[in-house]
Amino acid sequence: MIFLVDLTWMKKNAVQEEIKKLLERKSENFIDWEKNEYPLLKEDEILYREEEERKEIRGLSVDEKKEVSTFYNLLILGDNLATMRWLLEHFKEKITLIYIDPPFGTGTAFNLKIKIGEGKYSTDSKYWIREPAYKDSWLGGLDSYLEFMYPRLFLMKKLLASHGSMYVHLDWHVVHPIKLLLDEIFGKENFRNQIIWYYPAASAQTKKFFMRSHDVILFYSKSKNYIFNDDAQIYMEYSSRVKDNLKRDEKGVYYYRGGSHNGLKLKRKVYIDGKGIFPRDVWLDVPYVRANTLEYQGFSTQKPELLLKRIILASSNEKDLIADFFCGTGTCLAVAEKLGRRWIGCDISKHAVHISRKRILDIHEGRDLNNGKKKHAKKATPFKIMVQEDKIHDKSFLKSYLKPDQNHEEGLFQDFKEPEIELKILEKYNSCMKIELVNYSIPFEEKIKKSITNKINKWSDWIDFFAVDFNPSQGVFNTSWASYRTQKQREISLESCGWNHELKKIHSIQVKVIDILGNETIKTIKLNNIKI
Ligand SMILES: C[S@@+](CC[C@H](N)C(=O)[O-])C[C@H]1O[C@@H](n2cnc3c(N)ncnc32)[C@H](O)[C@@H]1O
Repeated sequence: MIFLVDLTWMKKNAVQEEIKKLLERKSENFIDWEKNEYPLLKEDEILYREEEERKEIRGLSVDEKKEVSTFYNLLILGDNLATMRWLLEHFKEKITLIYIDPPFGTGTAFNLKIKIGEGKYSTDSKYWIREPAYKDSWLGGLDSYLEFMYPRLFLMKKLLASHGSMYVHLDWHVVHPIKLLLDEIFGKENFRNQIIWYYPAASAQTKKFFMRSHDVILFYSKSKNYIFNDDAQIYMEYSSRVKDNLKRDEKGVYYYRGGSHNGLKLKRKVYIDGKGIFPRDVWLDVPYVRANTLEYQGFSTQKPELLLKRIILASSNEKDLIADFFCGTGTCLAVAEKLGRRWIGCDISKHAVHISRKRILDIHEGRDLNNGKKKHAKKATPFKIMVQEDKIHDKSFLKSYLKPDQNHEEGLFQDFKEPEIELKILEKYNSCMKIELVNYSIPFEEKIKKSITNKINKWSDWIDFFAVDFNPSQGVFNTSWASYRTQKQREISLESCGWNHELKKIHSIQVKVIDILGNETIKTIKLNNIKI
């Protein structure tokens, strides 16, 4: 017999009603219970579209081929509730694995370290600023947290394929109420594991209780027929107790004498096959992300790639679709990409999406999943960035960079003029042209905090990303070439690659510049108006 405890809170009935209404509506009539309208998603950017790769049908069944042939991996800037409502129109029951690492209900804000210019040394604070990445505070307490999570978890289940799985990463703050909610949404019989991810706590802040040094990952499947791969790559190493007691038999194969029964030691030989042991639900072998590693992105809540590697390998197959609706620095997306899965990521923060954009673009420079010291060395498949309409011109993310005496009223940002971009077009030989970024200025620079502007030594210190679209089409920026700074690679090229504009009959080009604050500016140049 299965016992069910129903978790309830003040607005639960109202939220349930809204979910019902929400699912009955067509996409034209999105209704959001806070803003009365769902913002739509708009295609914004395509990174390295390559027709040949796009044409490849990526492993789905026949009737899905048409849709998949035009499928791009998706990185979405926006609130995940609106995003999932949109996704339901296209991807209902199509996602094999959802991993989420949502705010933990900690009541605090989390920071992001933004590096400036070429300075590599993370210890010297003149090369970086620390700014808020996202807030995890809930004015209405646990009620408002549950009100936030409930409809989202509900929609995630709708998106999951019948053989799909869901992993929810939390800690002691809210894992208990969320466990009850997941039991209700997925059915208690579909609960699979409570995974304990242990990491050594940084320092002893208290000696009044035991140190908290683990997170909890709740694993549910959508049904009893779900994917779970017994893959050698997810195995755990033998404990040192086993390793210390290894012996070799007459053929040279390692074994140990295994276990005990009724207090008696068993004499049986247990042979070691080199794979290690089938994983338990306590994970001690995944270290926290350190600042000196290839995967570090400067985000305080970034999760390790090895954690996602085990989850993705166990609960999906190559070419399956994987989603992370709180993607942060894109850890889950990067691991999905490296393991040949398709992916959808979403985050409400401009910085998170920008970090993820660069992390995927630069994936060949990222860590190899089997050897942290080696590089992955394979370029990413093309992906598309989509932006929720109301985020396109939204400048409110600038709030935290302004001097405290500035009026932070909403609307003020609408008066902010776009940053100015100065370009030079260079002809290399014949009709091969290059674009050079020669200046960048922020018209509202005097409103920005001195703690930031004091660290800017030259105009190019503002620049974090510079891209050119040599063949613009309406509305979407098709990146033909891009240069960007990463945590480890601080130099940026301000001169693009060469492009044969006559051959391709190009009439205009576009450039995109993203500065270290997250300002994104696009400039279009008509080629017949300029002399090269
Ligand atoms: C704990 S972090 C995720 C970290 C990520 N796993 C990584 O490895 O970098 C949580 C993320 O959720 C995002 N977030 C919070 N509310 C959101 C919402 N309503 N929609 C989309 N993303 C949201 C935050 O901006 C933050 O980046």
